[in-house]
Amino acid sequence: MAHQAVEGLPGTDRAGAPAALLQIEDLAVDYRLRGRRTFRAIDGVSVSVQPGETVGLVGESGSGKSTIGRAVLGLAKTAAGSIEFQGHEISGLSRRRRAALAGDLQVVFQDPYSSLNPALTIGQILREPLQVRRKLSAREAQAVVVDLLTRVALPADAADRYPGSFSGGQRQRIAIARALSVGARLIVCDESVSALDVSTQAQVLALLQRLQAELGVAYLFISHDIAVVQHLSDRVVVLYRGRVMEQGPADRVCSTPLHPYTRLLLDAAPVPHPELQRRKREARLATAAAVPTAVAAAGATGSVPVTADACPFAARCPFAEQVCTQRRPALTGMAGVQVQCHLYDETSGHTRAGTVDPAIGIR
Ligand SMILES: Nc1ncnc2c1ncn2[C@@H]1O[C@H](COP(=O)(O)OP(=O)(O)O)[C@@H](O)[C@H]1O
Ligand code: SF4
Ligand SMILES: [Mg+2]
Repeated sequence: MAHQAVEGLPGTDRAGAPAALLQIEDLAVDYRLRGRRTFRAIDGVSVSVQPGETVGLVGESGSGKSTIGRAVLGLAKTAAGSIEFQGHEISGLSRRRRAALAGDLQVVFQDPYSSLNPALTIGQILREPLQVRRKLSAREAQAVVVDLLTRVALPADAADRYPGSFSGGQRQRIAIARALSVGARLIVCDESVSALDVSTQAQVLALLQRLQAELGVAYLFISHDIAVVQHLSDRVVVLYRGRVMEQGPADRVCSTPLHPYTRLLLDAAPVPHPELQRRKREARLATAAAVPTAVAAAGATGSVPVTADACPFAARCPFAEQVCTQRRPALTGMAGVQVQCHLYDETSGHTRAGTVDPAIGIR
């Protein structure tokens, strides 16, 4: 299948340069709590995705990854900031205009089972958008379905079977095929491989990479697992409590993390080599014994008050200094690197928070 051309021209920015496929600027998302209270789940997040690129959103559970995905998909209301897709603002679109976007912007969730109609065969599920949206004849749609099933490495007879007869990994392949059937240029993958066993996970990741090389599709790849994110992403955005702690090229962020929270995520991730894993564990124990700073130790006992304006990570950071408990660091950086930490020096590009062992990543 040739990659579906998108109707209309891609957007351009005011200077005439090609716009990013997705441009999130200073996004804030609030959830309503009981009464009139609200909770700011996302605060001041800026992320861009270029055509054909994979940007990973990583952070612990509750850090706000899905909320960003939901805002992009129009499922969560933006409280501030903007979300542009192909140069056009897409937050707050009417239902009709949002539906018109569905060809370009798709999603693959952790368990697509709930979004696959159990009463329809896979062929029916895949043919429907081809006939309705792309106005293909039944015969043309059937040919595209066969091609799609081959692309996602499912047997041709899959078209005649029902969703319930497939494994978790196969269902993800079906969900990916469905996203591609409408010619998606950006797929939001929210924990798309998290429920799969390691070998199935690797197969689906390889499929995503192959499809990107073949079709130029971009991914906003959301996962709590930094190892998976590193494997797939060109760039990584590290989130904590709804804010960006660090972002930059995936290899750099994961080999030379500049933010203590990124280190924590990497430290917790298993490495696929027993000797490296052992050294990593020893390094972690040594770090735990050598640090924390006096402020961090005092913070842990509650004897140093952490103000409302403190660094959001101050209460957990082993490198915390007095200033961290009083003032939130700005998100600073250069050349595609951004870090929100008082110990980061944007002039030199280095951090004062400990050292990094290139063999094991963190120290
Ligand atoms: N519908 C909701 N109402 C209130 N709070 C919510 C709702 N959905 C998510 N949250 C809160 O927003 C924060 C971010 O959630 P989420 O985006 O789901 O995080 P992640 O995907 O990184 O696990 C969490 O603190 C979560 O409890
Ligand atoms: S600003 Fe301070 S508390 Fe926050 S991550 Fe950096 S060193 Fe840790
Ligand atoms: Mg989530």
